[in-house]
Amino acid sequence: MLRTTFLRNIWESKETYKQTLQHIDSAISINPKAYTCPDYYKIEKKKIFKTGWIPIGYTNELNNNNIVSTNIGEIPIIMTKDKNDKISAFHNVCRHRGCKLIEENKRASMISCPYHKWSYKLDGSLVGTPLFKSSKKHFNKQQFSLFPVNIEVNNNIIFGNLKDDNVPSPKVSMKSAFKLLDKYPLEKCNIVKTKEYKVKANWKLLVDNFIEYYHLPAVHPELVKGSGMDEHVCTQKEGKYISFKTDPLTEAGLPIDVSKKPVFSTLNGYNKNENNNSNAAHFHALFPNMFYFLFPNHIFSIIVSPISPTESLEKAVLMVEDNAQTPIGWVNELFEFYDKVNKEDIEICEMVQKGLKSDMYLGGKLVPKYESTIHRYHKLLIDEMTRP
Ligand code: FES
Ligand SMILES: [Fe+2]
Repeated sequence: MLRTTFLRNIWESKETYKQTLQHIDSAISINPKAYTCPDYYKIEKKKIFKTGWIPIGYTNELNNNNIVSTNIGEIPIIMTKDKNDKISAFHNVCRHRGCKLIEENKRASMISCPYHKWSYKLDGSLVGTPLFKSSKKHFNKQQFSLFPVNIEVNNNIIFGNLKDDNVPSPKVSMKSAFKLLDKYPLEKCNIVKTKEYKVKANWKLLVDNFIEYYHLPAVHPELVKGSGMDEHVCTQKEGKYISFKTDPLTEAGLPIDVSKKPVFSTLNGYNKNENNNSNAAHFHALFPNMFYFLFPNHIFSIIVSPISPTESLEKAVLMVEDNAQTPIGWVNELFEFYDKVNKEDIEICEMVQKGLKSDMYLGGKLVPKYESTIHRYHKLLIDEMTRP
């Protein structure tokens, strides 16, 4: 009798990740092919980006513009906000011949396709098909609305989900992270700077790099003066995120110094002695692809998306609250500082990507004191990859 056996791909089998699933004291980092292999990449797109809840943007982006272009992995998405402040998301593709609808963010009452000008309302319904009238029998507009995307908003972060399945929502899976964010008035912040960085490295290398501070003295000699090694404290609780903080911060003559601008209005003023976040910086990575520096008077946040197994795109935003007169020039100085820090990170991640071309390297020893966060992140990745 002819029998067909469907083998699961090696990247979906726990056995493949044996070396990483051990206790941190003996664990080795994830198989380096996770950062290069097209086959791994294909499964990652399906298991992580097409199935999970993915950060796609911020409510603040929809304050001035009401139609905003974003993406989930490589898939283009549109976010909209209607007159009643309802935020929605759709696939960024026209139902006529598949043209991408929006490249640039804008304020408009309709989404209009650049190809033949079919137009859609902000709720996704198709309303205009110029020069084309057809009987309902042959073409029912109601069946050609934009494809909707599930969304969930937590604090000011918008998550999208392409599949309506049973993956727990961020409200549940990242509850502790939002408990902290809710102490900050992030919804009231303005996005004062944005920048995109095209990186010649796998997207996960940028997350790995963000969640460990072992590299601070070598890669960021300036940043480490304000965010000292000895002041780093792990704040991780249960959930699909990674977190640590610098508490207290050190005044170091840098644009990130707390003294540069009054702290967020909800932090009850600057207090050097009290543990009230007014002199601490929190660093979170929300699974799978978002990370931010949350300081007492600003937040610098990045969403990183894969472009190919060895390239990615970072979208960075700097947000501040307009709670007091912002010192002249400070925003520019602050952004220049983050731009420099981020370029330092990108440069070192690209060096890692180059190193991974060596076929001798099969994963490395994780340093428990500083890299237990990477171990945790790799285990979260493995959970998703090996999910049935
Ligand atoms: S592809 Fe959009 S109107 Fe033709
Ligand atoms: Fe860094």
